[in-house]
Amino acid sequence: MSVDILAIETSCDETACAVVRDGREVLSNVIYTQIDMHTEFGGVVPELASRAHIDKINYVVQKALNDAGKTLDEVDAVAVTYGPGLVGALLVGVAEAKAMAWAAGKPLIGVHHIEGHISANYIEHPELTPPYLGLIVSGGHTHLVVVKDWSKYRILGRTVDDAAGEAFDKVARAIGLGYPGGPKIDREAKNGDAMAVHFPIAHVNGSEYDFSFSGIKSAVLNYLNHAQMAGDSVNRADLAASFQKAVVDVLVEHTVRAAKDLKIDRIGMAGGVASNSALRAAMEDACSREGFELFIPSPIFCTDNAAMIGVAAYHEYMAGVRSGWDLNAVPNLKLEER
Ligand code: KG4
Ligand code: ZN
Repeated sequence: MSVDILAIETSCDETACAVVRDGREVLSNVIYTQIDMHTEFGGVVPELASRAHIDKINYVVQKALNDAGKTLDEVDAVAVTYGPGLVGALLVGVAEAKAMAWAAGKPLIGVHHIEGHISANYIEHPELTPPYLGLIVSGGHTHLVVVKDWSKYRILGRTVDDAAGEAFDKVARAIGLGYPGGPKIDREAKNGDAMAVHFPIAHVNGSEYDFSFSGIKSAVLNYLNHAQMAGDSVNRADLAASFQKAVVDVLVEHTVRAAKDLKIDRIGMAGGVASNSALRAAMEDACSREGFELFIPSPIFCTDNAAMIGVAAYHEYMAGVRSGWDLNAVPNLKLEER
């Protein structure tokens, strides 16, 4: 008997719903992105995000069921991201999931957004099973973890300030590329020289696997100010490429060092920034040099989607985890060591 889970994700600026079979097979994956709406404001406007989720959620859920050829009665559980994320955005998905699960008499499973990102790798890489080393790099999070077992993590390092994706977004704004910053820097950097400007890689004293990205962002801003004052022209592509290299270098360096220290030879990378072409290439190079096996989801499963939530929920479902009808949005939900 297969287990089909209807999963909902509304933690930030994507209204997403998917039906996933047995934690691997994506029967449908519908993503309604609000990017165009937020672009006008240079970033995500939480209030607008919530309203747009309300507008689209019923359509997106119905389309996910239709695409999968399923009715609500035919799925085995309803899963939803309940944190971390924007509280007003999360609430829309949580309320929708609770209403649907209650009405159809199905179990409800609240999913941690980061666990969703980690689980994205299982969709296309059935051979990937715990334990392995996980690097999660998104707009809100930068975590280096040991995935000890399904839903069990040991956190080795995290960012002490900005997330990697946040640094991409802020630098893109500073150099006039606009929102969404990550993909725009990725594209711009292809025409630039990554060695043109040296941006220092920040290390966090006393915690060898932690990250700090606010320093790189400040260094880019300082560089721009100096150039402006001196009347020098700035090559935007060189700047994008050099900034990107600094971020990519530290992500790869920490991951490889952790893998060597802990003698783990399999690495799973995930999250929005994992779709960055320079990061993918550099991590692939490093892993083939060190003899590590590397797993990265396709870009569509790196950025926010509900299929990854359906995968994470499957493992919770099989472990007997169920959420109560009092499930609430938790905007600052932490990734717990279990
Ligand atoms: O995982 P995600 O969709 O949402 C969060 O959970 O945060 O990640 C979004 C982040 C944004 O900061 C975006 O700029 C970044 O991922 N991103 C990228 C690329 N595509 C998305 N960063 C660098 N290069 C990319 N190609
Ligand atoms: Zn995300």
